[in-house]
Amino acid sequence: MLEVEQLSKRYGDRLAVNAISFTIAAGETVGLLGPNGAGKTTAIALISGIARADSGHVSLGGVRVRQGANELKRRVGLVPQDPALYDELSAWANLQLFGGLYGLRADALRARAEDALALVGLAGRRHERVKTFSGGMKRRLNIAGALLHDPDLMLLDEPTVGVDPQSRNAIFENLEALKRRGKTLLYTTHYMEEAERLCDRVLILDRGQILANDSVANLVRQYRNLEGAFMQLTGRALRDGADT
Ligand SMILES: Nc1ncnc2c1ncn2[C@@H]1O[C@H](COP(=O)(O)OP(=O)(O)OP(=O)(O)O)[C@@H](O)[C@H]1O
Ligand SMILES: [Mg+2]
Repeated sequence: MLEVEQLSKRYGDRLAVNAISFTIAAGETVGLLGPNGAGKTTAIALISGIARADSGHVSLGGVRVRQGANELKRRVGLVPQDPALYDELSAWANLQLFGGLYGLRADALRARAEDALALVGLAGRRHERVKTFSGGMKRRLNIAGALLHDPDLMLLDEPTVGVDPQSRNAIFENLEALKRRGKTLLYTTHYMEEAERLCDRVLILDRGQILANDSVANLVRQYRNLEGAFMQLTGRALRDGADT
């Protein structure tokens, strides 16, 4: 489904992403783990085409795609680290706006918006303004927004950060539902137990480089659990940053 080859991005003299390569098969759920500043958000920005790589390539279904190519927009759904929503508008109006950006026709958009809201458990709150939503509800609406054009590949940047356990669980169930529908998911998280439960495979990234690319089962066998793999490979405790 996705092939990333030697992708690099530099900000000034800092190499945020350093020649990373990996592939993700259709239907696979892959976790992108790494300390603060490791390069996770940058990698996702490069793959989704919202940032331009200095070098390297991204391919979808075996075909190389350029930054901003329509093929990329059509097939990839991005859930950014910071929810991008209009606070004054209702949940429904936000989805209509996003769907319009994807160029969906009104009737198709209505059906997709219904479906996406049901999936994230917000169907009953559709007419309420986003500013009245909790943090977790905003995150779930953000996921719905990325689903409107029915992408094959979803890129989710810390979809469960900063929300209470109950909302986290609801978001988690949304991700499991997407997985059951056969979507390919690449998502970043700092919650190891979450990655252990949801992911088929994880990539551990630090200082822009991939330190591990293995199945959860293999990493757990080798390091006892994902937290152990993370700490041994990065040499950091879970809450440490990489801002060096
Ligand atoms: N627009 C930018 N301009 C300059 N430097 C940037 C920019 N975006 C990211 N960086 C730098 O690139 C590195 C990687 O940042 P990135 O946001 O990709 O990390 P991350 O793994 O997503 O971290 P976090 O877990 O905190 O979200 C950091 O050193 C960061 O300071
Ligand atoms: Mg980030």
